[in-house]
Amino acid sequence: MKVLVVGSGGREHALAWKLKQSPKVSGVFIAPGNAGTDTVGTNLPIAATDVPALAAAAQQYRISLTVVGPEAPLAAGIVDHFEGMGLPVFGPSKAASQLESSKAFAKSLMRRYGIPCALGASFDCHAAAMDFVKSQPAPLVIKADGLAAGKGVVVAGTKEVALQALDDFMVRRTLGEAGKTVTIEECLDGREVSLLAITDGTTVLAMAPACDYKRAYDCDQGPNTGGMGSYSPPDFFTAGNIEEVRQAILEPAIQAMRFEGMPYKGVLYAGLMLTVDGIKVLEFNVRFGDPETQVILPRLETDLLDVMLATVEGSLDRVDLKWSRDSCVGVVLASGGYPGSHKTGLPISGFDKLNDGITVFHAGTGKQDGNIVTSGGRVMVVTAMAGSLDDARARVYSNLPRINFDGCHYRRDIAAPSSR
Ligand code: AMP
Ligand code: GLY
Repeated sequence: MKVLVVGSGGREHALAWKLKQSPKVSGVFIAPGNAGTDTVGTNLPIAATDVPALAAAAQQYRISLTVVGPEAPLAAGIVDHFEGMGLPVFGPSKAASQLESSKAFAKSLMRRYGIPCALGASFDCHAAAMDFVKSQPAPLVIKADGLAAGKGVVVAGTKEVALQALDDFMVRRTLGEAGKTVTIEECLDGREVSLLAITDGTTVLAMAPACDYKRAYDCDQGPNTGGMGSYSPPDFFTAGNIEEVRQAILEPAIQAMRFEGMPYKGVLYAGLMLTVDGIKVLEFNVRFGDPETQVILPRLETDLLDVMLATVEGSLDRVDLKWSRDSCVGVVLASGGYPGSHKTGLPISGFDKLNDGITVFHAGTGKQDGNIVTSGGRVMVVTAMAGSLDDARARVYSNLPRINFDGCHYRRDIAAPSSR
């Protein structure tokens, strides 16, 4: 069977790499891919949001399953388009993708179906939003409603910062249409964990939990990023916690979507906080997490193609996910200046110097004159598995100095005992 992975990041490299391991997969195509996916299969020069061209490629190359990585094509309705043409595709419909593409939609669903989350309210009127901020104690969290590539959340320590965020999102429209509506929430306190689940709309299978690191610098300092590293599994998140989330959050959310007439198929990502009042949802995403996927999929022992085909066919009740007991750690190598402006096109060396057992998932890489060069802010995730998090972490960090590009920076504390 041939598969097509849509997207160009580390998550998509990991998906393509895992699917390729299936004995049933004879070819992998990635659109548009990066220099890493180029070694797994065939990159197609089609943008991840060019839905008609992707569908034409799926027909041309006789693709048996298309797997959608990023949220933008899902929110644009790629799944509805493919299904309309009879092309098998893994991911939620446009309507179901609102769980990520509208925070107000997700919040309203959680409130109506009793799914634990932060208290809050949504506004499309700036004056009403300002009144609400003034009536609430700080700190508050201000969230732009729409997709904002990780820039749509402000954790405001004071009312002034909260009011400034409202002005930025709603009046100055710094995030465009995404800030037309905002959700204002109480600020929760606790440890964060990502729990992803695969679902065919009825059966819900929790995947292995993972933690990611959103801030740019060590000790959670500096600006927010798309993620600077991750590890799986966190020992503080027990099997009991996973069961609690399955019963109180994942199952009810999938059931709610069915009741609402928008059955949910694909992967549902729950961003969770373990508060003193129990586990609460910070956000839902309608896709695999990045960089969580790069540390979760290496631990999956079940054939990913079988899991995804069963999802599309609605037979996930016959599937069991098996996980390696090993731990996996992934550290992001980022371009100098990231998450701010950064150079691209810089040559990368050292891939050939890595120890066996180190897997690199490319993100912002491309090829120039046959050489691998940087092409984005997050350049790659370097991962290793081992019997313990400490050993996996030691393996990754001992290999990192061997990879070089001008301005490369990374966090030194991913999966460190002090940060987990
Ligand atoms: P989100 O995109 O909703 O996951 O938000 C990004 C980050 O903002 C999360 O990973 C949390 O660290 C933080 N965050 C979101 N909502 C809240 C909340 N209600 N209380 C505290 N922190 C939050
Ligand atoms: N790691 C966070 C995300 O994928 O949204």
